[in-house]
Amino acid sequence: MKAALLVESLTGNTWKAAEMIAANLQQEGWTITGLNPMKQPDHHAIQTADLIVVGTWVHGAFIVGQAPWGIGNINALPAVAGKRAATFCTFALNPGKTLGAMEKSVTRLGADVVGGLALHRSKLGAHTEEFAARLVGALVTA
Ligand SMILES: Cc1cc2nc3c(=O)[nH]c(=O)nc-3n(C[C@H](O)[C@H](O)[C@H](O)COP(=O)(O)O)c2cc1C
Repeated sequence: MKAALLVESLTGNTWKAAEMIAANLQQEGWTITGLNPMKQPDHHAIQTADLIVVGTWVHGAFIVGQAPWGIGNINALPAVAGKRAATFCTFALNPGKTLGAMEKSVTRLGADVVGGLALHRSKLGAHTEEFAARLVGALVTA
């Protein structure tokens, strides 16, 4: 399987999470066609991937008003019609409905969203491992 990752990150947690997810998928024999900032998508990497992984961080007032940061950048991604996609966000306290909003945007791009996970910023190791394992499972059974 081939995956392209697109990431929005302010202080580095989400980027680090994406690198860990990519490493976990590579350990399972996957190819990473690209890991790029959401604002600079690599069209070739997206085109050649079976799975598009979209990650951002939770922005809000910590317990209310949480939303994915940079939703406009997700909405501006190139169309990924017919491709499978997965979403993740990193957060500190409570992700609220962030994943649901991300899924809506990525679905609007034409992708079939196979799953999503909120990753706590202080548990990136365990949570990225869990996410990658779920992705491998989802694509094997798909
Ligand atoms: C302005 C601001 C608002 C935030 N709001 C929330 C929030 O509402 N809920 C939450 O769980 N984390 C919140 N966070 C924490 C970030 O989501 C978390 O640190 C995340 O891992 C940052 O990702 P990054 O390092 O890739 O930028 C906020 C962080 C910032 C800077």
